[in-house]
Amino acid sequence: MHQPVLLKEILEYLNPKPGQNFIDCTIGLAGHALSIARRILPQGKILGIELDKKVLKELSQIIAGQENIILKQGNFAHLEKIVDQIDFRPINGILFDLGMSSWQIEESGRGFSFQKDEPLLMSYQAGGLTAEKIVNQWPEEDLFKILGEYGQERYARKIAQRISQVRQIQPIKTTKQLVEIIARATPAQYHHQRIHLATRTFQALRIAVNDELNNLKEALPQALEILEREGRLGIISFHSLEDRIVKNFFRQAAQRGNLKILTKKPVRPSQEEVISNPRSRSAKLRVASKQ
Ligand SMILES: C[S@@+](CC[C@H](N)C(=O)[O-])C[C@H]1O[C@@H](n2cnc3c(N)ncnc32)[C@H](O)[C@@H]1O
Repeated sequence: MHQPVLLKEILEYLNPKPGQNFIDCTIGLAGHALSIARRILPQGKILGIELDKKVLKELSQIIAGQENIILKQGNFAHLEKIVDQIDFRPINGILFDLGMSSWQIEESGRGFSFQKDEPLLMSYQAGGLTAEKIVNQWPEEDLFKILGEYGQERYARKIAQRISQVRQIQPIKTTKQLVEIIARATPAQYHHQRIHLATRTFQALRIAVNDELNNLKEALPQALEILEREGRLGIISFHSLEDRIVKNFFRQAAQRGNLKILTKKPVRPSQEEVISNPRSRSAKLRVASKQ
């Protein structure tokens, strides 16, 4: 079911070689990590970081017997600390494949998909903030703000208003309820666009629940810091907010002479990949090497 995005391009740009060490900051179901692991044998190791404990459980079956993959549950925002804990050095390459995995969308039952009727969680970790808390408890103005900023949702105002009206009558608990609210808050022509009418709202809530943009902002300088010279840093992003953070970070670090940008423009998936894996459609890969 799971197809890693831009795999050929990742292998080409990160160029793993026997004996090298890599970090996969978002190991997921190891679609990229398994291919990298094969190329760094026999001595090279991969440190795989994953926030979602349930994903790690699935993964442990997939990578059983792969002794050169070390797993750590945690948030890549604490990258340096995680690396220090197990003294994982030298580091020749670091990969981020941002966002959620197909397993989380299809199997987790946590409300990542607007095509299913599930509880409104949208969280990679149990016990923290959830989409349900945001839609039922946050002030309307804050809802408006995240829908506009994180979702770039044209109808942010109308959707926020509708949410705050509905929740006074009954709590909003499921993805289906939320999709209906968005449908009622937006004009009919918005229901026949290329992307689903709930795409932007769901994206905004997921980013807010998991504090995704701040995690990325915190992780990038740490990744650069821990890399060996000539080490490669590759980031696959799935929307313009993430890509802008990566682009600006690369540009500023390149100006200081700390890295060399290897992808002048972001690398996009081929037409064949988009056809065989529609999730890759919005992917953008940027790669740099440490100087
Ligand atoms: C797009 S998937 C990675 C898929 C993986 N490259 C593969 O091919 O199997 C992103 C993964 O990163 C995890 N993740 C998201 N934010 C994270 C964070 N801040 N720290 C660590 N893992 C995170 C998600 O739980 C998800 O499993």
